[in-house]
Amino acid sequence: MNNPDWLNLDHVWLPYTQMKTAALPVPVVSASGVRLKLADGRELIDGISSWWTACHGYAHPHILKAVRDQLEKMPHVMFGGLAHEPAYKLAARLARMLPADLNHVFFSESGSVAVEVALKMAAQFWLNQGERRTKFVSFRGGYHGDTLATMAICDPEEGMHKLFRGVVPEQFVVALPDTKAHQSALHRLLDEKSSEIAAIIVEPLVQGAGGMKFHDAAVLAELKKLSQQHNVLLIFDEIFTGFARAGSMFACKEANVTPDIICLGKALTGGTVPLAATVATDRIFNAFHSDNADAALMHGPTYMAYPLGCAAANASLDLFETEPRLQQVRAIEAQLVEELSACRGGDGVRDVRVKGAIGAVQMNAPVDAVGLRSRFVETGCWIKPFGDVIYLTPPFVIDPRDLSKLTRAIVDVVRESSS
Ligand SMILES: Cc1ncc(COP(=O)(O)O)c(C=O)c1O
Repeated sequence: MNNPDWLNLDHVWLPYTQMKTAALPVPVVSASGVRLKLADGRELIDGISSWWTACHGYAHPHILKAVRDQLEKMPHVMFGGLAHEPAYKLAARLARMLPADLNHVFFSESGSVAVEVALKMAAQFWLNQGERRTKFVSFRGGYHGDTLATMAICDPEEGMHKLFRGVVPEQFVVALPDTKAHQSALHRLLDEKSSEIAAIIVEPLVQGAGGMKFHDAAVLAELKKLSQQHNVLLIFDEIFTGFARAGSMFACKEANVTPDIICLGKALTGGTVPLAATVATDRIFNAFHSDNADAALMHGPTYMAYPLGCAAANASLDLFETEPRLQQVRAIEAQLVEELSACRGGDGVRDVRVKGAIGAVQMNAPVDAVGLRSRFVETGCWIKPFGDVIYLTPPFVIDPRDLSKLTRAIVDVVRESSS
């Protein structure tokens, strides 16, 4: 492939990459539907949806129009003291979609910041009642972002931030309560330490970046029960699972468990403009509602409620209302189950699992992520394995033939590595 003349590693620092040995990334010039067009004219079918954002495919005309219209009117204004319709409309729509009284929406511009805001909200919920609680409970296999506070609640041993152990404030990162023994361990921890613990935070039903690991709704019901028994808050990080990725519009709805705070991001704008949200119940909000100015939530990112992002998010929600996204996710799920099952039993394959529009083949050992990625590109697919997992999270609009090309590429690679 002839690379374009702008592509070199002189100035750009790549994500999660050892720059000394880094391969050049793949140059893309445009994206439409489920296809990425490369600088040399080739096209790739996208199996990742740009880190799980592009749920409607790329360049959906309805979202593009909404963003263009908003761009003409007002790309941005500060949210402190000024208001704009896209944000107020979006907040009301999210509150209507979310269960129970998750009514109060705080906007930010990335998932990590949405989680930071949730942690801060939880800590200040207690501060506003005269309690100083500095700890959080999170779970092995979990991932919540790359900023300092979010690194502290990621899996400290297997997660990508293990280097930072001892640098970030230590939190209680424990096993999910998916067995009696794990339930008892969490119960004991909460018994001993609940007066220090502001909240429990979990990615409900699917731990994404920690390895596409699934757990049952019963685990979340247990967390809800324990959080109530021990009087600590419960935060759901639905930045990955939200907006139908895991099969239901939100995992909390599928599990029928309402957290005190929920974090949304990624597919919120259909993958067009960065935007995230932290949404709290009335109880949380009311703890900030006070005659005391110091009880206010002291947070306000510069691009908070970015109008282009809110316009894109409103357009994305329109598409969930007018196009059959949940049916498409169900069809993707059925096809992934059928087609990835060919990987089962292969040498080196530990597990094959599917939930909603997430299909994962877990190997016994870490894979050669960069080598496999190039291999997939050669076959016209964009699939980006990490750790021991080769996975698909395609746009929901993918047609069955394109999805089959993606699953076939994975099956071939797994078969080859078994032979
Ligand atoms: C569950 C979860 N929380 C938080 C984040 C961080 O989001 P962002 O990359 O937008 O900061 C991610 C990103 O992968 C995520 O999957």
